[in-house]
Amino acid sequence: MKALVLSGGSGTRLRPLTHTRSKHLIPLANRPILHHVLDKIGESGLKDVVVVLGANGKEIQESIGDGSEWGINFSYVEQKQPLGLAHAVKTARPLLKDEPFVMFLGDNILPEGILPYLRYFESETPDALVLLHPVNNPSAYGIALIKDHKVQQLLEKPQSPPSNLALIGVYFFSPKIHQAIDRIKPSPRGELEITDAIQDLLEQGGRIEAQTIQGPWFDTGTPEDLLDANQMFLDHLIPINLNEINPSTTINGPVTLGEGSIIEDSCIVGPVIIGSNCRIIRSYVGPYTALGNKVHLEDSGVERSIILDQCQIIKVPRLIQSILGTSTQLREIERLPTGLKVQSADHTKMWL
Ligand code: TTP
Repeated sequence: MKALVLSGGSGTRLRPLTHTRSKHLIPLANRPILHHVLDKIGESGLKDVVVVLGANGKEIQESIGDGSEWGINFSYVEQKQPLGLAHAVKTARPLLKDEPFVMFLGDNILPEGILPYLRYFESETPDALVLLHPVNNPSAYGIALIKDHKVQQLLEKPQSPPSNLALIGVYFFSPKIHQAIDRIKPSPRGELEITDAIQDLLEQGGRIEAQTIQGPWFDTGTPEDLLDANQMFLDHLIPINLNEINPSTTINGPVTLGEGSIIEDSCIVGPVIIGSNCRIIRSYVGPYTALGNKVHLEDSGVERSIILDQCQIIKVPRLIQSILGTSTQLREIERLPTGLKVQSADHTKMWL
C-alpha cells in the first residue's frame, strides 16, 4: 500500500514564520515536523510514499532527501495552489493509481503511530477508515457522528457540532474516494474538502468506519499547538551530552547538548534540548525549551519556547511560551531611537 503525505497548504495561522519556511519544517525538539511524520510512516513498514508539494516544495525535498533515513521511496507531485485536501488527492491520483492508500497530513503528530489501524484497514477493507480524537472546540474541525464504529455523518467545521469527535489527519481510503472527489464541489471557503468527499462516499452507500485513538494527537497549525507538541517530545527526551559542562553551570533534569555548544555561569532545568555550536552565558533555560543550532543567549532567561537556528537573545530577562524564527535578534533597548528622545516623558514611558 502507498502513503500520501501532504506538505502543501499556506500555513496562514503560523505567519509570519511561514512566510519564510514551510510549516512542515518547523522543528519540534529540534526535528522538523515532517520528519516526525515520516518516522511514523517508516515504523509502519510502508515503503512507497507520494509527497504532495506546495509553494516550498524545493525546501521540503532538500530536507527529506532520498528517503533512505526511513527506508522509504518518495515520489513527488506538485499542487500548484492549495485548493484543499481533496484537491491534493486529485492532484496525486495518477501516482496513486487504482489502489488503496493512507493519507497522512504532513503537519499532524500521532505518537502512537498508524500500525494497528493499517492492519485493521487491510483486513476489514472498508471503503474508508477515519481516525478520531475528542476536542474541546469542535467547530474548528471536521467532525464525525458515529454509531458502533460506523460513520453516520461528517461535517466540516460545523456551527452546531453533532459530536466532539474530530477527524485527525490520517485517513485510509479505497480507490472509491477518487470518484467521490470527482462528484463534490468546492466549499464556501473555496476548497475541495476531504470531509465532503467522505460524506459523498457515505451517501453513495459506502462503508466508512471510524476508530477513536487513545493517545495524544497534535495538529500543529497554531503557535500554541507547536508549543504543546514540542513539550510532548521533550517529555520523552533522552539526555545526551557531547560537551564538557563548565562547573559554574547548574544542570537539572534531562538536557541534550549538541556538539560545540558552550554553557557558562548558567542554569539549565530540563527537559531542554540545545543544538550544536550554541553559546549560553549567564542565562537561565527552563523546562520545555528547544534551542536550535548557533543560538546565542546572554544575560537572559527562556522557558517553554522554540528558538530556531542562529537566534541571538541578549539581556532579555524573561522570554516564555515563544517561538522565534531563524536569525531573530532580541535584545534590551540600550538607547532609544533619536526621534523618541524628543517625545514627552509620558509618551516615552508608554512606548517602553
Ligand atoms: P491545513 O492546516 O488545513 O491548512 P494550511 O496548512 O494551509 O494552514 P492554514 O489553515 O493555517 O492556512 O492543512 C493541513 C495539511 O494539509 C498541511 O500539512 C498542509 C496540507 N495541505 C496541502 O497539502 N494542500 C492543500 O491544499 C491544503 C489546504 C493543505
